[in-house]
Amino acid sequence: MTWDTLLLNAELATFDGDAPYGLIGHGAIALKEGLIAWVGAQADLPPQARAEHVVDLEGALVTPGLIDCHTHLVFGGDRAHEFDLRLNGASYEDIARAGGGIASTVGATRTASTDALLEQSLPRARALLADGVTTLEIKSGYGLELDSERRMLEVARRIGLSLGIDVRTTFLGLHALPASHKDRRDAYVDEVCERMLPALAEQGLVDAVDAFCENIGFTREEIRRVFERARGLGLPVKLHAEQLSDQEGAALVAEYSGLSADHLEYLSDAGIAAMAGAGTVAVLLPGAFYALRETRLPPIDALRANGVPMAVATDCNPGTSPLLSLRLAASMACTLFRLTPEEALRGVTVHAARALNLADRGILATGKRADLAVWNVRRPAELCYWIGGSLLSNVYVGGEMLELG
Ligand code: NIG
Ligand code: FE
Repeated sequence: MTWDTLLLNAELATFDGDAPYGLIGHGAIALKEGLIAWVGAQADLPPQARAEHVVDLEGALVTPGLIDCHTHLVFGGDRAHEFDLRLNGASYEDIARAGGGIASTVGATRTASTDALLEQSLPRARALLADGVTTLEIKSGYGLELDSERRMLEVARRIGLSLGIDVRTTFLGLHALPASHKDRRDAYVDEVCERMLPALAEQGLVDAVDAFCENIGFTREEIRRVFERARGLGLPVKLHAEQLSDQEGAALVAEYSGLSADHLEYLSDAGIAAMAGAGTVAVLLPGAFYALRETRLPPIDALRANGVPMAVATDCNPGTSPLLSLRLAASMACTLFRLTPEEALRGVTVHAARALNLADRGILATGKRADLAVWNVRRPAELCYWIGGSLLSNVYVGGEMLELG
């Protein structure tokens, strides 16, 4: 047999199986035609094994390429002034009700040209890639009318093509009520369900459908309508749930066999039970918890006790989480939420893959996509332990080594 690439002398954190980190010391991993062709202890390599490229990693750590399963990284402008306002005592809800918050980013996004949006957003995706992210979810939700939502999703796809990473796009029409529909909520929900979602899905721009279930967002009844429409179109759903208050959003998304419920600081026991029953992933977003100076913790022990898989993501957005490192999100998940480093790293690999409905990645195992991150450290816990810095040595996406320019 001849492989394309064979990496030798690696510490492999496979996240496959139940051993801590799925660790294989002094391991080898072979790539062929974009997939992992062989993985195991180097001593067990078949004697007839050959490869075009053989690389000695000298004991470096290899993980699956990291997966950021929740971002809003395509947007115009920034909201640094709101950071000031919050530090001076204004709450996120106060700012939103005064016409700032999401609405202000909607203005800046609508007025930016498509090229300008790409130019502003690309460096954010590049920063995530520089920290090991090879699969990235990007949501719409700062357009709130068909053409601007379309442009956001197109820019998201262009980011993937331009960087050579896999971008998954989520339609978030029910993110905020646009000013044009003040006092006409139903008309906006109609527009999302009857016009925007079908048109964007038709164009192949929608991998999943999300909504913001909150006092300052949308009600369960409104969200149920868009979930019904998504179901009719065969699209999976997920939800911003219980971020600022308990709206019983987790139970709603679980009822639709949702991929994930995200944030969850105010999640109830009933919500946890519903998620456990439906196999819905809990996506933890410690960047938003940190930036909003939230004090209420998501119910980590109860999620763990009920076997709900926990993913960790950046929530990269201009308001609540201007966070450009998934590794830092994992570190915060340990320090702020008390995940173990292993849980946090499973949260940015195998459980994040599940939150995106991607069965072909997230672990190092034969037959999975050859998306790998090679690090300048030797032990997996170091990825959560070092705060900042650049620890990435190389990434492979679909078996090809990427330029990290
Ligand atoms: O995930 N909560 C709603 N959506 C984002 C924030 C968006 C914004 O403030 O621009 C979040 O926290
Ligand atoms: Fe979000």
